[in-house]
Amino acid sequence: AEKYSAREGRLPRTWENGEDVSSDSRWWCSGFFPGVLWYVYENGRNPRVLEYARMFTARVEREKHTTDNHDVGFMLYCSFGNGLRLTGDKSYEEVLLTGARSLATRFKPEVGLIRSWDHNRDKWQYPVIIDNMMNLELLFWAARESGDSTFYKIAVTHADTTMKNHFRPDYSSFHVVDYDTLSGKVLGRQTHQGYADSSAWARGQAWGLYGYTVCYRETKDPKYLAQAENIAGLIFSNKNMPEDLIPYWDYDAPGIPDEPRDVSAATVAASALYELSTFSADSVKYRAWADRIIDTLSANYLVLPGTMHGFLLRSSTGHKPGGTEIDVPIVYADYYFLEALLRKQRLERGKPVNR
Ligand code: GLY
Repeated sequence: AEKYSAREGRLPRTWENGEDVSSDSRWWCSGFFPGVLWYVYENGRNPRVLEYARMFTARVEREKHTTDNHDVGFMLYCSFGNGLRLTGDKSYEEVLLTGARSLATRFKPEVGLIRSWDHNRDKWQYPVIIDNMMNLELLFWAARESGDSTFYKIAVTHADTTMKNHFRPDYSSFHVVDYDTLSGKVLGRQTHQGYADSSAWARGQAWGLYGYTVCYRETKDPKYLAQAENIAGLIFSNKNMPEDLIPYWDYDAPGIPDEPRDVSAATVAASALYELSTFSADSVKYRAWADRIIDTLSANYLVLPGTMHGFLLRSSTGHKPGGTEIDVPIVYADYYFLEALLRKQRLERGKPVNR
């Protein structure tokens, strides 16, 4: 945090080819480093860390006006959302509400979904990616905060339409589903960051697991619980899931076992499993899987202190087909790792999984 604080507006992203890579707030990962600092602060209550958490959170504020992509939830809820939770700072509420309104502009009732991306217009009309499930948490918060049920309706409609169109009979999910903007008809089902249109991209499966767990927390609708349990079943019974529960970047990658892992998919899943364990009859099993992931990461995937610019975990894979961020530290792996550790600690102390 100290090194980055002097770099106006920059936020850490990854460590690649021997160098740290940062971004400005526009990159979808901009909220994760502020979120990492909030989690570190939550654990230790160090006032210096609080100062940095506020500083880096402020760097993301302008994203509250973002209406050209769906990542507003990631960007603002991990930064301002955690900040609000831990400090009660009223000014953070305005940022989150404005952000939720911006995100809601991307919902089209005819399609029943928030549109994820505006890029590649020659390829897709109305692309929706499974990752989008992660942006619903901001909308659920906004519904509670503002009393405006529109946010809630958008979130559940998006979750329902995704459930209908994104999943295969075995509960694995496609990455991108493209829709007809006017009729809402499915035009195609593809991948962008996975191995093949028909494959199970590891992080996508984890986003789905986490997303439907949040949907159950927020609505108590049992169909979301069942969906999360079915996704967990798919992930952890996959024939290509390694013993240590750190998946390859895609469960169907052709060169397994000589394919890069994706630690980020494991951290997202571990965090989700801790929460899912508090809702499900299979609680013991889910906690055991999450604990095994945490143990493996702690034993074998931590970056050596003083190397790789302060990142915590190695071996995440961001975009294998794009040839970038392969087997490297990535900021969101660290974010969900810390979130999982805090959830684990709370459960072990007999406290609610979320504070
Ligand atoms: N949401 C983009 C990714 O998971 O890489």
